[in-house]
Parts: sequence; C-alpha cells; structure tokens
Amino acid sequence: MSSSRVLICSASRLLTHFRFLLTLRSEEGKYHGLIVFRLSTNNGLSTSDDTETENRSPEWYKQLYVMESTCPHLGAEMTHADIEEYEDSVVAVCPWHRYDFDLKTGKSETGLQTCTYPVHVESDPTDGIDKVYMDAPSDGSNWRVVELRPVSEEFADPPPPPPEAQETSRAPQESDEPVVPFENPPKTLMEWAVLILNTPNPTLKVERTRYAVQAWRTGKITSIGNKSVNTPKPPEVPTREAQYLKNTVDPGKVMKRKNRAVMLHALANIEQWAIDLAWDIMARFGPMHRDLPPAFFSDFTKMALDESKHFTLLCARLSAISPSTPYGTMPVHASLWDSASLTSKSFRARLAIIHLVHEARGLDVNPATIERFRKANDTETVKVMEIIHADEVTHVTAGHRWFVWICEQEMKAKGAVNGGDIVKIFREEVRKYWLGEIKGPFNKEDREKAGLSPEFYEDLRGEMEIERKYGNTNGHEQEASIKDVTQNLARVKIEYES
Ligand code: FES
Repeated sequence: MSSSRVLICSASRLLTHFRFLLTLRSEEGKYHGLIVFRLSTNNGLSTSDDTETENRSPEWYKQLYVMESTCPHLGAEMTHADIEEYEDSVVAVCPWHRYDFDLKTGKSETGLQTCTYPVHVESDPTDGIDKVYMDAPSDGSNWRVVELRPVSEEFADPPPPPPEAQETSRAPQESDEPVVPFENPPKTLMEWAVLILNTPNPTLKVERTRYAVQAWRTGKITSIGNKSVNTPKPPEVPTREAQYLKNTVDPGKVMKRKNRAVMLHALANIEQWAIDLAWDIMARFGPMHRDLPPAFFSDFTKMALDESKHFTLLCARLSAISPSTPYGTMPVHASLWDSASLTSKSFRARLAIIHLVHEARGLDVNPATIERFRKANDTETVKVMEIIHADEVTHVTAGHRWFVWICEQEMKAKGAVNGGDIVKIFREEVRKYWLGEIKGPFNKEDREKAGLSPEFYEDLRGEMEIERKYGNTNGHEQEASIKDVTQNLARVKIEYES
C-alpha cells in the first residue's frame, strides 16, 4: 500500500449510515475535516442519513466520496449538503448559497473548487477484509484518522424537570418559552450562542442547542456574526433556573459518589456546564479572534450538540435507575465554570485549561467509571458512557487543533518562521492558570489519539498566582472570590479521583 494513502476503516463500517464526519491529523499537527459520502445504489442517489436496507454489493464501493467538510465559498458546513445529479456528474450542493461541487473533482460551475480525495476499497491480504482508503492530503505527512462518526446520531428524550419545579408556580411564560423566541429571534450563530448561555432551563438549553446546530448545518443560519460591532456579549456566568440553582452548593458539600444515581446526577451536571462551555468559547473568543475560520465554529457547534446529547442520555439513565431523583434534585457544584472564569481573557489559556486539562482528565477517569457501571450490570449506562467517552476524545482533539492554530497564528504575527514549540507554550499556560500537579494515571492511548503526547502533561505542575488570574486585583472582595476559585479547583481534582 502506498504511503500516500490513508486507511479510513473497514468497508462494512460504512454500511450503517450514508454520511460520516472524518477528521485526519498529520504528524505535523495539521488537521483536515472531511465528509465521507456513501451514495445508495438502490436508486443511485440518496440524501438520507438514516440506515436503510444494507446493500452489500461491491457496486456501492464505487459510490464512496470524500470531500472537505466546509464550503470554500464562505465556510458553510457541508454535512447536510443536498446531493444532486448534474448532467453526468454528482454534486454536493452547499446549504448556504447553493453552490454545487462535483463529488469527484471538487469543481463548481461558479469557478470555486473544494478538495476531494479519491477513495479506494481493497481487500487486506492479512485478514481478507475489505478496507477503505483515501489519497492523503498533500500538506502534511503520516496522516491518521482521529475521528470517524455518522453525521446523524440519536438523542435521548429531554430530561423531565425536578418534581419541585413541576409543583411550584413557574411563570407561565417560562414554561411556555418557545425554542425560537417570538421577539427578536437570533439571526447569527453568535446571537444563538448568547441566547443559549442565557437560557436557564436545561431542557430548553438542549432544545435550543439542537435547533441552532441544525439550523447552522442546513443553511437556516448563514452568518457567524463574530465580525459585527453589534455582536452580543456572553454572560460572565450562564444563568440557572431557581429550582436548579438552589441545589448548587460548595463543591466540598456535594455527595460522594456512593451509588449510580449520584454518579449519573453529577455527570449530568458536568455535561450541562459543558454545553455552556462550548457556546461560551464561540461567543467570547469568536469576536476577539475574527480570523478564526468557519471550521472552528463547526467543531464547537458539534461539541455543543455532543454535550447536549450526553446530558439527555445521562438524565434518561438517571430517570430509569432512580425515578424519584431526576436531574436537579441533588446538590451540584459549578466548579467547572471557575476555570472558565479564570481563562475568560485568553483563548489560548481557555483551550489549554478547559479542553486539554479538564477534558483530557475525563479521558483518564472515564474507563474506571464505565467499569463501575459494568460491575453493577448496568449495561445501558455502560453504552451511554462509552458513547460519551468516544465523543470526549474528539473534544480533546478539537482543543488540540485550535490550540495549535492560535499558537501558530501568534508566532506568525511575531515573525516566527514556524509555529514554535507548542508543547512548551501549553506547559506555560498550565503553569499560569492551574494550581497543583497534573495528576495521573493517564490514559495515554486516548490522550495520544487526541494529539496529546506525554511531553504535554507528564511532570507538570500548575503554579497559578492569584494576582495573575484576574490581572489587577482591586480589593478584598475580589481576592476572596479568587481564593474560593483556587479551593474549588483543588476540589474538582479530588472529585476526578473519586
Ligand atoms: S455557497 Fe457555501 S458558503 Fe456560500
């Protein structure tokens, strides 16, 4: 096999869906976001993502295409592009401005061109299994697949509100609040991000996330909106509904993880904050870094959707295991947002601390959590946790991708020939914005999949200085809150260990 080809997967893996998101990373740390299209051989063309009758004829091998996942015009996602027959070729039609791109050549009649990659299916002589390869991109070496996932995935039902919230007099306009506000509905992705951050009800937050991401992908939202002077500002802390807020307590007072319901409740709480973190990084840093390419927003809208999916799946399991304690009935903490506050001024620090420290730590501890549910014979929760874990690998990957990007941008602006020493820059960020040791044991395999080699995290200790975190401190009150933050950070780490 030529070294200029990349093994995507076994051919049979592509039979479950018609579209897959494919992410490649090169040895040099470059990324390509791609889509694999499998066109149905039943009618020749299909735009459906749903599983249909399997067609195991090798004929379908000829109908596999790989193209870049963002449109070369203004960066729309092509995951939901219509597929149309055009004269004697097949084209993907961009959902934003309807430019079409030949799936084989990448050419558009508008004169634009996207990258497409020839696909080959060959039998592997070592095991006799048919495998799918693509020609490697030319702007890097030793490309490998870091993500391959279907475009369409299932959500669990939205979580029910806690019992007290059902009984008490919630304002009718709150319970009836529509997914798309009647007055001043958001028009841009940034406006949606800020609306969702300001949506206190978790069910509505999930519904709005699903709506906004779908609208972004299908061309109902055609503007990111991060370059406008009127871009709304995200809240310092996302809002929480009173019924949920009253259970938000000091991290030291949350229940220990004694049983599965407590574990699921704690994990759902983390996922709710994670939804906000995905929207916040777009709303806060999109306007600060106007040169961020559309692929950044594609990665983080996907992350917001993933976290919403995790939240609903965990809440559904919680309801199944313990109907009397639905989400919102147990004490929770907001420690994860402390790290968001500490890094609210620096995109580089945010990526390093939230996505490459906190989320990477999740990769270390998830396998043990999965084992606990397995030992309890809770196979349904094991399945949910395995989905979450696989997604989290891709979130750390996104963190790595954009951390590399911002480092390279900043180094180029300073006139450096290449992007500088990424590992060194990362370790410096952790020293500045983290307190204490980055503790193992590490899940080296999954960290490596996400782009984190051991030199990123081994023998690393945060030496955060209180003054540095907020810049100019100006009084006792602020100093006290900073102290709280550092204590909370220590407790977050303790929770990871439990
Ligand atoms: S045609 Fe794709 S973004 Fe305009």
